[in-house]
Amino acid sequence: MPDVTFSTPLLHKNVTVYAVAGDTHTILAVAEANKIPIPHDCKDGECGSCLIEVTPLDDKTMGATLTEKEKAQLKSMGKITAEEISRAVVDDIPPKFRLACQYVVRDQDILVKFTGEPGGA
Ligand code: FES
Repeated sequence: MPDVTFSTPLLHKNVTVYAVAGDTHTILAVAEANKIPIPHDCKDGECGSCLIEVTPLDDKTMGATLTEKEKAQLKSMGKITAEEISRAVVDDIPPKFRLACQYVVRDQDILVKFTGEPGGA
């Protein structure tokens, strides 16, 4: 079962939640279920307000599936380079910044950081 640890200045301390194995929820859905206040608006990969920084906390290699919307939005925000997109697609190396409404929880422990400002991470 993956641990998802949320870190933000909005919380007194980091909060770790246990995602359900085989869960297909997004990080944003997991956050909402646990009252973690990740800013969001569209929930559809189009506004960029749910920007998060993701750091793997174990050495499992998990694929880095990005939706087309996520790639386009991160690119327009200057949060991903063409090289990072290529590495994600070709080598399964995940980029640092993601959209919480597009990132589906996987069987990997991760640290999720966000500032609390829409689009801040
Ligand atoms: Fe709009 Fe995630 S809530 S991109």
